[in-house]
Amino acid sequence: MILVTGGAGYVGSHTVMALLKQGEDVIVFDSLELGHIEIIETLKQYGNLKFVKGNLKNIDDIRGVFMLNKNIDSVIHFAAYSQVAESMINPQKYYYNNVYGTLNLLNAMLEFNVKKIVFSSTAATYGEPVYTPIDEKHQQIPINPYGNTKLFVEKIMDDYDKAYGLKSVRLRYFNVAGADSGAKIGEWHNPETHLIPNILKASAEKSFKMFGTDYNTSDGTCIRDYINVEDLADAHLKALEYLNNGGETNYFNIGTKDGNSVKQVFTACENIKGTAIPVELCPRRSGDPAILVADNEKAKKILNWTPKNSLEYSVETAYKWEKALSLK
Ligand code: UFG
Repeated sequence: MILVTGGAGYVGSHTVMALLKQGEDVIVFDSLELGHIEIIETLKQYGNLKFVKGNLKNIDDIRGVFMLNKNIDSVIHFAAYSQVAESMINPQKYYYNNVYGTLNLLNAMLEFNVKKIVFSSTAATYGEPVYTPIDEKHQQIPINPYGNTKLFVEKIMDDYDKAYGLKSVRLRYFNVAGADSGAKIGEWHNPETHLIPNILKASAEKSFKMFGTDYNTSDGTCIRDYINVEDLADAHLKALEYLNNGGETNYFNIGTKDGNSVKQVFTACENIKGTAIPVELCPRRSGDPAILVADNEKAKKILNWTPKNSLEYSVETAYKWEKALSLK
């Protein structure tokens, strides 16, 4: 049985769906502070899924899960706060949840002798890019508390491997996009800060705010590497397979190696919607690097993983999901 923390959230839920479709038994542990019970109900239709509501900040919540489910053999850990801007204003919230919460999880794993974990890390651990595309050898100097929390956990995981033999794979995501092909689940944040849902949600009353058109890029807007959420979910399955086959502790960028500008994404959204989307050109958002693109060769080679879905497909599924979400 696989324990998935944060399985009611965006990337977590798509990974749970992929695991269930593969016939795995899954137990989701989620506080439902940001995740949604409706997503869990939907996921239950895909296979053997147990749900436990709990918070990693309470060690007894997570110890209880291992105590009552002795057949858990690996963990995929998503539960975390992930808003960069919020982390700058309230670092305490981020360190307490993302670092202390993860320590509780790792310590409970050791207590119950579970020694394999796949962890959601981020491109934010690299900080301001020194070169592009970014490979895994790029320096890791985060420029915000969110990135720090993810980097600290990576370091803790290295030490826990050396001392206790706990094996980890850290997946450093770039920009996640899209929804499942049936648009049964998708991105559901409140407030929403991400580019694609914000473009798709724009209306005559509330236009889309394009942050920064004076970057040193081909069209003046920021370039990002948009990885489809189902491809990202697949990377977690491949990472688990790698650990199950005796793989050593490791870390991988998960992206497409293709960059798209904010204007290109905006156009892709207009094409899918088939209408003009109201837009307001705004000053730069603080902390946005001009270009963030992944070198994904290591994951391709070692995990035998390849991204399959295009940006257009991500936008199309995201749009279907936005329509479904508006009816909820
Ligand atoms: N953008 C807009 N308008 C919006 C939202 C975003 O113009 O309403 C622009 C941003 O300025 C940026 C680009 O769209 O240039 C992408 O922004 P997102 O907020 O969608 O994503 P980020 O690249 O800021 O953040 C992502 C992840 C974070 C992670 C970060 C690493 O969502 O979790 O990459 O740098 F920390």
